[in-house]
Order: sequence, then C-alpha cells, then structure tokens
Amino acid sequence: MVRPDRPVAPGGVFPARPPSRTGALAALALLAGLTFVTGLAGAPARAEVPEGNAEAGKTRAGACRTCHGIDGFARIPIAPHIGGENAAYISHQLTAFRDGSRSHEIMSVVAAGLDDQAIADLAAWYSGQSITVALPAGVAAEGAPEDCVACHGADGVALIEDAPHLAGENAIYIDTQLKAFRSGKRSHPIMSEIAAGLSDADIRAVAEWYAAIGFKVTAAP
Ligand code: HEC
Ligand code: HEC
Repeated sequence: MVRPDRPVAPGGVFPARPPSRTGALAALALLAGLTFVTGLAGAPARAEVPEGNAEAGKTRAGACRTCHGIDGFARIPIAPHIGGENAAYISHQLTAFRDGSRSHEIMSVVAAGLDDQAIADLAAWYSGQSITVALPAGVAAEGAPEDCVACHGADGVALIEDAPHLAGENAIYIDTQLKAFRSGKRSHPIMSEIAAGLSDADIRAVAEWYAAIGFKVTAAP
C-alpha cells in the first residue's frame, strides 16, 4: 500500500527543552560569589548558549552549501541531510566536532571555525526547514527495523529530540556512522551500545531500510 507523504513540522515534533538546571546552578554560583573553576567553566553551560538567528544562519550556510545545500539536502553521498533536523541535535553535533568528541576530516575543520553564535544561527536555519518523508511504494511500516523505531521512527523521522532523522540518508553514511559507533570512533551512551550488537549484515539491512525512504526538503523563504 502506498503511504501518503508525511509532512513534518520544522524542528521536529517535540516542544523545546525546558529551561536547563545548569543555568539555574550557574546563576546560584554567581550569586554566591563563586569564581568559575576550569572544570565548571569547561562544561557546556546551556544558559550561555546564544539565541540562534535563522536569517544569519542562512547567510552562514553559504559555507556549507557544497555538501549540505543551503536547504540541508545533502549534495554529496558522504554528507548527511541536515535540513529539518532538530536544532538541539545540530548544535550538539557541531559542538562535538569542535571539541573533538566527534571527529571527521572535513567537519572537524569546518566546526573549528564556528563560534557559539554561528552554531546557534546555523542550527536555527537548518532546523527551520520543512521536510516530507515517504516510505517506498509497496513497503509497509511494519517491516521497519524494530530495534530502531522507538527513536528514529519507521519512516526515519526522529521521535526524540536528541536523535537525528535517518530518512533518505545515504546508505554509506548510515553504514559509516553505525560502524563508527561500533568501533568507538564515535561514541554515544545509547548508540554505542546498540551498534555493538549489530553485525555487518544487520548494519547493511538497517542502512538500506532508512536510505530507501523518500526525503524532501522544502526550503524556508
Ligand atoms: C566539504 C563538505 C562539507 C562542508 C563544507 C560542510 N560539511 Fe557538514 N558534514 C560533511 C560530512 C562528510 C559529514 C559527515 C561526517 C561524518 O561522517 O561523521 C558532515 C556532517 C555534518 C553534521 C552532522 C549531521 C548528523 O546527522 O550527525 C552537521 C550538523 C553538519 N555537517 C553541519 C555542517 C554545517 C553547519 C556546515 C557549514 C558551516 C557544514 N556542515 C559544512 C561535509 C561537509
Ligand atoms: C533509544 C533511542 C535510540 C534507538 C533505539 C536507536 N537510536 Fe540511533 N540514535 C539515537 C541518538 C540519541 C542518536 C544521536 C547520537 C549522537 O548524539 O551522537 C542516534 C544516532 C544514530 C545515527 C547517526 C545518524 C547521523 O545523522 O549521524 C544512526 C545511523 C543511528 N542512530 C541508527 C540507528 C539504528 C539503525 C538503530 C536500530 C538498530 C538505532 N539507531 C536505534 C537514539 C537511538
């Protein structure tokens, strides 16, 4: 049965995060007249994350266009689509490339040149794109990889804020990321454990499922 295209609201389906506790703690520490020691100052204090400006992000996206497009629809097979991805996920990944906790020959260099404001602007711009996904004709959602659907959805649209969409990503990209989680090159408390349990054949199967999903980005004006 052919499923109708599923339009997805910009920025995912979940409401924004509640104000963070880190912010409250930082404010308390300041009130108490405490100086920030290195450890504390080094932690990502979310309260200090600047507000993103989508318009400025669009301009900055000129530096990303050859690989991710201005609209976030990938232009080269090794780069992921980032249009319509959750803002929190985009900023988290850019910050991870910048601080070295995720590394890639291209993106580590790109992210090294981004300050917090640039990251917030780019996240605001790319997360603001509308996406549409569709399972291939004749494919039923029931066939989706059952260990993944809770977070990535049967149609590759993330159901939790911190997870990326997988719909229409290139199979090579999905394969590479799962192997990176499995080998420890990329690490995440949930994904490292899930990937550890996947064989090469499992990885190929899930990559093919998500790569086959139709994915479109409708650029914001
Ligand atoms: C020359 C190509 C290139 C350019 C330019 C580039 N990227 Fe990337 N980007 C990539 C590749 C390749 C990856 C996949 C990295 C990996 O395999 O871990 C990636 C990954 C990402 C990711 C992680 C997405 C995910 O799903 O985990 C984000 C976010 C991102 N890029 C944002 C940007 C932004 C914002 C810019 C511009 C400031 C940019 N990139 C410029 C090639 C590029
Ligand atoms: C409990 C939630 C959860 C489940 C279940 C889950 N994932 Fe994930 N996945 C995540 C989160 C969170 C991330 C983001 C990791 C990070 O921040 O680096 C992620 C990241 C990924 C990525 C990287 C995508 C990108 O754009 O870089 C791939 C590929 C992936 N997951 C595939 C899978 C597959 C395949 C399964 C099933 C075998 C699965 N995941 C199951 C939560 C989950």
